[in-house]
Amino acid sequence: MFKSLLIPIDGSEDSRTALNVACQLAAPVQGKLYLLNVRDPYPQLHRGELLSLEAAIKAASVETAEKEGNAILSVALDTLPSFPGYNGEFETLIKQGAPAKVIVEEAERLGVDAIVMGSRGVGQFKGLMIGSVSHKVTHVANCRVICVHEKPRQHAVKAPHEFVDFD
Ligand SMILES: Nc1ncnc2c1ncn2[C@@H]1O[C@H](COP(=O)(O)OP(=O)(O)OP(=O)(O)O)[C@@H](O)[C@H]1O
Ligand SMILES: [Mg+2]
Repeated sequence: MFKSLLIPIDGSEDSRTALNVACQLAAPVQGKLYLLNVRDPYPQLHRGELLSLEAAIKAASVETAEKEGNAILSVALDTLPSFPGYNGEFETLIKQGAPAKVIVEEAERLGVDAIVMGSRGVGQFKGLMIGSVSHKVTHVANCRVICVHEKPRQHAVKAPHEFVDFD
């Protein structure tokens, strides 16, 4: 039974797929869904890039975070296909910080039964089947983590049988 689920949304197709899957999981008990967008104030710094003072101040502002986070979450809610039988409660959350850390902390704070997230996100490097945030969350979270993708082959540079060593 999934009475409450956390769905981290970064605007990617996989995260929208995760929202759809979460509705299906929550439907039997009309479980509650928490949609979370994490604003990383210093993504360029984490990538080792130089950031102008002006750009750093803008990125770190709460107003910018709220505006951008709301835009991403409202697109996800708009595109949410109405899943037959699900009309449970939603709550949207916007937080600032390192995405994987915040996702794990929020899952614990809310006491959710599972995190349902995309395998990949909006990152540019698509050679791997799983992104750095989903990789970290699956290793660290204290609850179940379900990673989903709509079109697995599009995420990998190689075909799955070349990519995975099955031996
Ligand atoms: N800032 C974020 N806020 C909320 N959820 C996020 C955020 N970043 C990632 N996620 C969640 O993690 C999933 C996987 O994204 P991830 O960032 O791991 O992959 P990526 O963007 O393809 O790769 P990378 O970020 O490592 O370049 C997304 O589908 C989404 O569910
Ligand atoms: Mg990412």
